[in-house]
Amino acid sequence: MQEVLPEGGVIRKLWIGETPKYRDHVLRLDPDSRHSRFAGGVSDDFIRKYVDLAGGLDAVVYGFFVGETMRGAAELRPLGAHFPHQAEAAFSVEKPWQSHGVGSALLRRTLLAARNRGFQHLHMACLSENRRMQQLARKFDAELTFDFGSVIGEVESSQPTPLSLMRELMSDSHGFATAMLDLQTRMLRA
Ligand SMILES: CC(C)(COP(=O)(O)OP(=O)(O)OC[C@H]1O[C@@H](n2cnc3c(N)ncnc32)[C@H](O)[C@@H]1OP(=O)(O)O)[C@@H](O)C(=O)NCCC(=O)NCCS
Repeated sequence: MQEVLPEGGVIRKLWIGETPKYRDHVLRLDPDSRHSRFAGGVSDDFIRKYVDLAGGLDAVVYGFFVGETMRGAAELRPLGAHFPHQAEAAFSVEKPWQSHGVGSALLRRTLLAARNRGFQHLHMACLSENRRMQQLARKFDAELTFDFGSVIGEVESSQPTPLSLMRELMSDSHGFATAMLDLQTRMLRA
């Protein structure tokens, strides 16, 4: 799986204690992107509470990092015990990094994570005029079916396999190794 990301960027899962980086990323979104991300206007205060809650739930959050700064995010939130095979997915990329393949890479990781957790339905609160997100989803139409009226993506091959679990593990360890290398380089420079 060859991904071309903007130079110096990596995608990895968020670690414990990194919620502030996620919050700051969402707060930096330009007004249009913020509106698209939350399917409506929301305040800074709403965002702070929303991100704090994500840290406490069983959510999987992938971050797109340039250096230590998070510039993009994908969030997969289980809908809870009453809907065991359903989750909500949401994506955000800061404007200067949009249209460079980051959203595609984040969606690919999220689909793999959803599959490995047995989620068959992914809900996305996406405005019907959000053409960019619709284009992005269409790129994955082999794995995902969309109905943008009410929403929903369906992860079709929902059974995890040893290979799909291995792919997630490998991308986690690659993200970890890259982050450690980055940290080491910065410590040597200091
Ligand atoms: C939607 C979003 C996550 C996509 O991320 P991205 O990094 O821009 O996506 P990509 O660069 O991978 O582009 C994905 C596809 O979108 C389409 N696309 C990219 N830029 C576009 C543009 N300016 N206009 C229309 N479609 C566009 C293309 O089809 C592209 O695929 P291609 O490059 O193979 O042709 C990002 O634009 C964003 O954060 N938007 C604001 C928040 C939002 O809408 N979130 C979704 C609600 S859950």
